[in-house]
Parts: sequence; structure tokens; C-alpha cells
Amino acid sequence: MTLLQLLPALTVVVPTYEERANIRPLFARLAAALDGIRWEVVFVDDDSPDGTAEEVRALAAEEPRVRLCHRIGRRGLSGACIEGILSSAAPVVAVIDADLQHDEGLLPRMFRALEADAGLHLVIGSRHVGDGSAAGGFSALRHWGSERANALARRLLGIRVSDPMSGFFMLRREAFNEVALDLQKQGFKLLADMLSASSGRWRVLELPYTFRARAAGSSKLDGAVALEFLGLLVARLTGGLLPVRFVLFLMVGASGVLVQLAAVRLLMAAAGLSFGLAQPLGVFTAMTTNFTLNNAITWRDRRLRGRAFWRGLLSFYAVCSIGAVTNVGVADAIFAVLPNWAVASLAGAAVGALWNFWASLIVTWRVR
Ligand code: GDD
Ligand code: MN
Repeated sequence: MTLLQLLPALTVVVPTYEERANIRPLFARLAAALDGIRWEVVFVDDDSPDGTAEEVRALAAEEPRVRLCHRIGRRGLSGACIEGILSSAAPVVAVIDADLQHDEGLLPRMFRALEADAGLHLVIGSRHVGDGSAAGGFSALRHWGSERANALARRLLGIRVSDPMSGFFMLRREAFNEVALDLQKQGFKLLADMLSASSGRWRVLELPYTFRARAAGSSKLDGAVALEFLGLLVARLTGGLLPVRFVLFLMVGASGVLVQLAAVRLLMAAAGLSFGLAQPLGVFTAMTTNFTLNNAITWRDRRLRGRAFWRGLLSFYAVCSIGAVTNVGVADAIFAVLPNWAVASLAGAAVGALWNFWASLIVTWRVR
């Protein structure tokens, strides 16, 4: 047997966060479904507190088809899938959730489709073509949100497939490598991002399946994921000029403006404070909510807790104060040469926002 024959023909990438109880059942199902194909599975775990990585290691000691990519100090579904795919040497890779919601029985058909047609790049497990469905696995709210996200992706990103939000797909690794550099690591919607990055060059096949109810554990898709998706749309529309993280930071900043206005009004009307007192207190309130929201959304993968939270809050006040001074300084300087208040004020705000973003990134959330 030559080395080439030992190389897996298919790598199945399984992102995991707190999926300990699903590891062995999933492996058994993969083994049954993929009989006759040379395959391997790589679990990409973000150091789950429930010991998912240990469970994968234990399984790997028994099954040579199992690999583990254990990431520390990081979180994120898209990033985990990207690293899992890049760790593969096989010509074809698949991504499937760990919680048994995706139908692994579809994998052989996806594989044969790619094998039979050299011009095909990607096969998607779709809930929206033929007799595919999501009925069993979704709450009414999730269903509605999923439909909206779908419509947005079609309209704004020019994506033509029926289920760009699917987390279940298979593709040629070569095709993936072409777009890999262009992908956003933050977020949940890797497929939509890849389709957008490949800008219509890929030939895509969609196969129907039924989205099942989750086996064990709970979903990690929450409100912040929806915001991340909006961030992804903006990142895509600006050709990556505004990365997801910065878009989230701007959204939080915009909410801060509203908080400030509401606080000033409340302090003056309800508490009877003078404007001179209400304004600085309003700014203080907005900085506090901005910090809390950025910590929960923008930097949720490195959220500060306990003492670090309070230290972070103080440093955020300091960073934003310098940002405010810079904002005014830049606006004044521009107004001196170009006396247009709107242009000067916007330029000040833009420089202030950039400063706040980069400085808080380095000082408050300590990203180096
Ligand atoms: N490594 C890693 N890091 N894995 C993660 C993370 C993370 O931060 N967050 C979630 N996962 C893993 C979960 O453990 C699971 O295996 C998979 O990603 C999907 O997460 P769920 O929390 O189960 O998401 P869902 O069921 O609500 O949504 C899924 O299905 C939808 C329909 O196909 C996702 O695949 C969505 O992208 C998809 O739209
Ligand atoms: Mn799930």
C-alpha cells in the first residue's frame, strides 16, 4: 500500500463547544454512514469547560480516524471550522455540527457528487430544497430570524443558494484554500461568507435533509450571533475594509449616543439637574453601557469577568477620555482650514472612534 492510499479521501470537521455527551454518538454515526470511504474526523474544540477535548482524546486513543484540534484562549464557530479545514490534507472536507442535528446519512451522497463531477466545488446540506426541512429543530423565533438572515444574504451579498445559513456542507479543499484568506473568523455563518468570497465562481449543489432536534447540550446561537451576522454583511459590503469586530464596535457606539441623550434628558427632566451636570453624567453612563456591551458582544470571545471586568472598565474610561479630546482636537483643526461644521465634526468622530477601537483593543481587552 502506498502512502497516497493511506491518506484520507475525506476529512470531516466537527466544531465543538460543550459537546462532551455527543462525541461518541456522533463518531458511531459517522463510522456507520461513511463505511467504504477513506475518512477521518477532526474535532475542533475551544477548550470547552465540560471536558469535550478530553473526551475526544480518549476516543482518539481507541480510534485512529479521530484527530483533535484543541484551541485555547479563543472562541468562535467560523474560526474553528476554518482551522479544522486548513488542518486537513485530504482533497475533500466536510463540516458538520456535533449535536446530531445534521443528517450524517447525507455525507456519502455529498462525497459521491463531488467525486462524479470534477467541475463541482461545493455541496450544501439544505433545509430549503426538495423535501429538506427545519421544522423539528427550530423554535418559531429562530425560524423567523433564519428566514430574515437568508433574505438579507441574498439581497446584499448576491448569494443564490437556498440555504446559505447552513452549517452542513462539503467542498474541495483546493477551492477552500482559494478563499481562506478572505474569510471572517468571527461569527457563525462561514458558508455565507465563503459563498460571498467566491463571488459566483463556484458551482454549487444543494441536497435536501431534515434538520433534527439537538441531542444533548444547548445551542450557542444567541442574540450576539445575530449581530455578528449583520457585522459580517457590512464587512463583506465594504470589501473587508470594516472588519466584523469594528462594525460591532460602531453599533455599540451608536447605542451609546442614544443612551447619552436619554440619560441627559432623564437627569434634567426627572432629577432636575442642570445641563452642566447632566451632560458629563450622561457621557459617563454611555461609556459604562458601551463598555458592558462591547465586553458582551464585540469582545465576547475574550470577555472580562470578576476583577478583570472592573479593571477593564476603568481603563475604558481612560481610553475614551483621550478619544474625546482627540475627537475635539481633530474637529477644531479641520474646521480651521475647512469651515464646514458637519465635515469637521464627522472627521473628529471618525478619528475618535478609531482611537477608541484600537486603544481599547490593546489596553482594555489586551489583544496583542
Ligand atoms: N469550536 C467551537 N467554538 N465550536 C462552536 C462554537 C465555538 O465558539 N460555538 C458553537 N460551536 C459548535 C457547537 O458545539 C456545535 O457543534 C456547532 O458549532 C453548532 O452550534 P449550535 O450551538 O448547535 O448551533 P445551532 O444548532 O443553533 O445552529 C447550527 O445549525 C444551523 C442550521 O444548519 C449552526 O450550524 C448554524 O450555523 C446553522 O445555521
Ligand atoms: Mn445545533
